[in-house]
Amino acid sequence: MKKTRLFAANWKMNKKASEIAPFVRELSQKISGIDGVEIAVAPIMAHLPLLAASLQGTSLRLAAQNAGPAASGAFTGEVSGSQLKEIGVTYALIGHSERRHVFHEGKELLAKRLTAALEAGLSVIYCVGETLQERKAGATRKVVEEQLELLKGRPTEALVVAYEPVWAIGTGENATPEQAEEVHGWIAEWLERQLKSSSIRILYGGSVKPDNAAGLMARKNVDGLLIGGASLEAQGFADIIRHGSKG
Ligand code: PGA
Repeated sequence: MKKTRLFAANWKMNKKASEIAPFVRELSQKISGIDGVEIAVAPIMAHLPLLAASLQGTSLRLAAQNAGPAASGAFTGEVSGSQLKEIGVTYALIGHSERRHVFHEGKELLAKRLTAALEAGLSVIYCVGETLQERKAGATRKVVEEQLELLKGRPTEALVVAYEPVWAIGTGENATPEQAEEVHGWIAEWLERQLKSSSIRILYGGSVKPDNAAGLMARKNVDGLLIGGASLEAQGFADIIRHGSKG
């Protein structure tokens, strides 16, 4: 089965409210004529309703950068899956390396986030990836497979995996297509073996730019891209989608 390519923008803690509508207008113009791909944008939580309004009438999907660990309750600072769903969110990122490494979100918390998001009916883009130290120690496969453990027993139709090597995020140093494909291959094998699924999309993320998108997307097990810095400009994001949607 051919997988629909997914290009997801992760804006992190960037952009002003006033930039949202112009971005969507420009992006929509620049990607007109590109069919058969899925595109999602993840702004800060506070901008989700604004982006939702701008996306009306487009086929672009709304994504959240995280999702709360329970349906409701005493979780100051969190937004639950059902609250995200209410605004029109389709995808939630869970386990992004900045959540794991900057905010020290561990296995237990991430498992709760996954459970709550999936129960709320969101699709999840679950991020995995090794640090430079782990790569140098030859531990990449082990680290990634340990992170994937949290997906056991989950509904496969709601899952997307994003491989984002920590050393490649925001550093300008992307993984080569060969490095990405090697890990994507391991992830695909793991998903097949443990979840009996060959339809889960595996995105690559980490310093994706217009000039490396096509090379990464040409690899067998790369089904889409998760883009940070280069997605902040509509032109750059559109170029990535255009280059990455061919072939
Ligand atoms: P980057 O970020 O494209 O700026 O490296 C990717 C990500 O963190 O999702």
